[in-house]
Amino acid sequence: MSLLLGVNIDHVATLRQARYSGMLDSPNAEPSPLEAARDAQEGGADSITVHVRGDRRHMQEQDAFEIRDQIKLPLNFEMGNTPEMLDTVLRLKPDFVCLVPETREEVTTEGGLDVTGLYASLEDTVSKLQLAGIKVSMFIDPDASQVEASSRIGAEMIELHTGCFANADNNDRSEETERLKAAAVLGNKLKLQVNAGHGINLQNLPELLTVPHLAELNIGHTLIARSVRVGLTEAVKEMRAAMEGYAL
Ligand code: PXP
Repeated sequence: MSLLLGVNIDHVATLRQARYSGMLDSPNAEPSPLEAARDAQEGGADSITVHVRGDRRHMQEQDAFEIRDQIKLPLNFEMGNTPEMLDTVLRLKPDFVCLVPETREEVTTEGGLDVTGLYASLEDTVSKLQLAGIKVSMFIDPDASQVEASSRIGAEMIELHTGCFANADNNDRSEETERLKAAAVLGNKLKLQVNAGHGINLQNLPELLTVPHLAELNIGHTLIARSVRVGLTEAVKEMRAAMEGYAL
């Protein structure tokens, strides 16, 4: 199977909220995440990712429900492990949930989920999600202990946090690449689907593609940034083309 591309469209909502927060039903509220999801689909996206954060800084529940109802692609819902979000997601019933750490101050998701340290509360959430027929992914740093804990807790997937890899110097990210490779090999051995995400772009993609066993990449910021120049459909097509030829 070829490497899948999940497109995170949160920052379409970031732009809308910059002006129309609290006025979502206004005919002027733009750009539309729903239309962005359609454009991403047309460009060849394999799934759509949205993250409704506790502070609602970009995506709103309403966006997630509209996308679920009107877009055929699988919906991947990123969420912090809170009772409020669990209640939302059990009504939404997306195809996948990716559990992420979330603090109010952060600009974007920083660091992976501490599955080892938060095991008991995460275990409860994972089983509730799975009982509802939702597949669960853990967004973790590429550390053996986190991969093992994700397997023990019964998650179907891990998403390896590629932030440190992406932020490393372009000519010197081999150490981070090695960490990702080791985590991917372990995840595969433990029968987890191995995904990756955060900070991936056309510059660092070739090196990321040396990591084995990747099933899906989740990419947001760079695609939305590029869409300002060429439109989202084209931006997704470019990324898909760059991912061609990846061999598990
Ligand atoms: N995966 C997860 C779990 C994330 O939190 C994010 C950022 O929202 C991404 C992937 C996408 O990262 P980026 O926007 O840097 O491509």
